[in-house]
Amino acid sequence: MAEYKKVTPYDSTQESKKKQVTSMFNKIAPFYDFLNRLLTLRIDVLWRKKAIKLLRKNSPKNILDIATGTADMSIMAAKILSPDSIIGMDISSEMLRVGQAKVDKKSLSDIISLEIGDSENLKYSDGQFDTIMAAFGVRNFENLEAGLSEMNRVLSTGGTCLILEFSKPSVFPLKQLFNIYFKYILPVIGKLTSKDPKAYEYLYESVQVFPDYDNFTSILKKTGFKDTSYKSLSFGICTIYLAKK
Ligand SMILES: C[S@@+](CC[C@H](N)C(=O)[O-])C[C@H]1O[C@@H](n2cnc3c(N)ncnc32)[C@H](O)[C@@H]1O
Repeated sequence: MAEYKKVTPYDSTQESKKKQVTSMFNKIAPFYDFLNRLLTLRIDVLWRKKAIKLLRKNSPKNILDIATGTADMSIMAAKILSPDSIIGMDISSEMLRVGQAKVDKKSLSDIISLEIGDSENLKYSDGQFDTIMAAFGVRNFENLEAGLSEMNRVLSTGGTCLILEFSKPSVFPLKQLFNIYFKYILPVIGKLTSKDPKAYEYLYESVQVFPDYDNFTSILKKTGFKDTSYKSLSFGICTIYLAKK
């Protein structure tokens, strides 16, 4: 398994990655949804929909949405999958505040509860959920293996884990175009709009060092998952990983 380098949003501080990531998301929370839609030209909505639809055949009942942020995955899963309950958890109180307003506005609070917490130390019991999902969250963990092991612990035997994460396209000219966009254009738009100069530089850097494709499924296996598979979207800019416990 390839070793991967850890990058943090604000390299100049001595704070842990977890603290830096929490402050960064607290800061960009009011702009997060707007920027997601703008910077991906709304393709992120299609990625999420495609991923959630893969869960339909399992008829999930109890879902945990790890690193739910502003609850986009929870809201879409409530609509597409009609489960009994979804817990969306996140370490950033400001992301959850934005998410809660969306859940309330869509009258989904009977199904979706948003809770503050740390994915690397989950407060839930062993096997509590039949489905766990995480979109664009695991790349931000301080300790990836600790977070994935915790996700495995709270998943029931036979349950499904779905992870959506950025990956690096490898084909010409997508690889080159993606690099130019992510490295030079996206940070400038992010800087002007989110008022956090570092957040969208961190996005590029964290995607560069994050293990993708087979490197990521090796880590899933190491942390207790089996039957791992992946499906690349948009020429490999984003990948859906599926695994069973
Ligand atoms: C890029 S956002 C993704 C949010 C959402 N899942 C989405 O699809 O838009 C990453 C989220 O991961 C959360 N996060 C990072 N580390 C975490 C941790 N250790 N525990 C819980 N949430 C974490 C951040 O607070 C942030 O809301």
